[in-house]
Amino acid sequence: MLEEIKKLNAEISTAIANIKSAEDLENFRLEYLVKKGKVQVLFDKLKDVPKEEKPAIGKDLNVLRTFAEAEFKRLKEEYEIKAETTADFDLTLPGRTGFTGTFHPVQQIKRKMVDIFESMGFAVVEGPDIEDGYHNFDALNFAPDHPARDMQDTFFLKTGKDHLLRTHTSPVQIRVMKSQKPPIRCIMPGRVYRNEAISARSLAEFHQIEGLYIDKKVSLAELKGTMMVFARRMYGEDSKFRFRPSYFPFTEPSAEMDINCYICGGAGCRICKHSGWLEIVGCGMVHPNVLSECGIDPEVYSGYAFGFGIERVSLLMTGIDDIRHFYDNDVRVLKQF
Ligand code: DAH
Repeated sequence: MLEEIKKLNAEISTAIANIKSAEDLENFRLEYLVKKGKVQVLFDKLKDVPKEEKPAIGKDLNVLRTFAEAEFKRLKEEYEIKAETTADFDLTLPGRTGFTGTFHPVQQIKRKMVDIFESMGFAVVEGPDIEDGYHNFDALNFAPDHPARDMQDTFFLKTGKDHLLRTHTSPVQIRVMKSQKPPIRCIMPGRVYRNEAISARSLAEFHQIEGLYIDKKVSLAELKGTMMVFARRMYGEDSKFRFRPSYFPFTEPSAEMDINCYICGGAGCRICKHSGWLEIVGCGMVHPNVLSECGIDPEVYSGYAFGFGIERVSLLMTGIDDIRHFYDNDVRVLKQF
């Protein structure tokens, strides 16, 4: 038996040395490595070998099989590479380039907005998504029975504490005013959450950019001027906008700015609720109660605040007519921006 193994070993070595093509290699496999191949035939004979010789012979057989298989594998890879490199090559074809991703349209627009405000001297500040009732409502002068405090509008956390998902970025104003001394000029971008029915106009999770400017003698005219500069830089010099009086608990007086609906050009569509205008920002002069709550003397300081809905602004910029398209993650939509 040992003799036979030696013989087969020599035979395999010669056969390997003689392999000159992929076809030779396949013949080698058929002769030696398949189930009825010469190596297996020797293994089959192992059962007739006396018990005491079995371990030594079994070991030699294994060495032989491992050697044959390893050589086969090595040659196979060699021939595969050869086949690839000798295939028809058109060296004049342009190379394959990788795909480059882009920022999500909402992210692109947020960056543009941040750039505009940074150029006007606003610094970027962030706050937590999980807030408490104090920062989200009380310190912002919300009345104890304000409907926003209702479960129907706000997601409360089951922590057993006063935890909720912030419904707007305005609580970051409170955090900034409590930790910094005026003059304060910052914007606060972030994600906000509301227990809303999802529709073409609203989502339960979206983004806002809050703005705050506190100093001596800050006036409503400055707020209006800042919003106007923003609108012109964002939408073009001849963009149309209007201010409407409004109400927010944390500002007095309060206003909203609308932009001429780009989607329908002012003719009226479902996005602008057939009014021709789209509200993009709420704003106003910071309420004296809010300043006092944060330790800022309203007799000495005044300020303005504003809050943009980034998706709203994005709708206008992209012409997308349904806010849900932003988060369907359909690359055919996202690739256009
Ligand atoms: N927090 C308001 C909202 O989510 C938006 C807002 C309005 C922010 C007026 C302000 C502001 O800072 O002054 O609807």
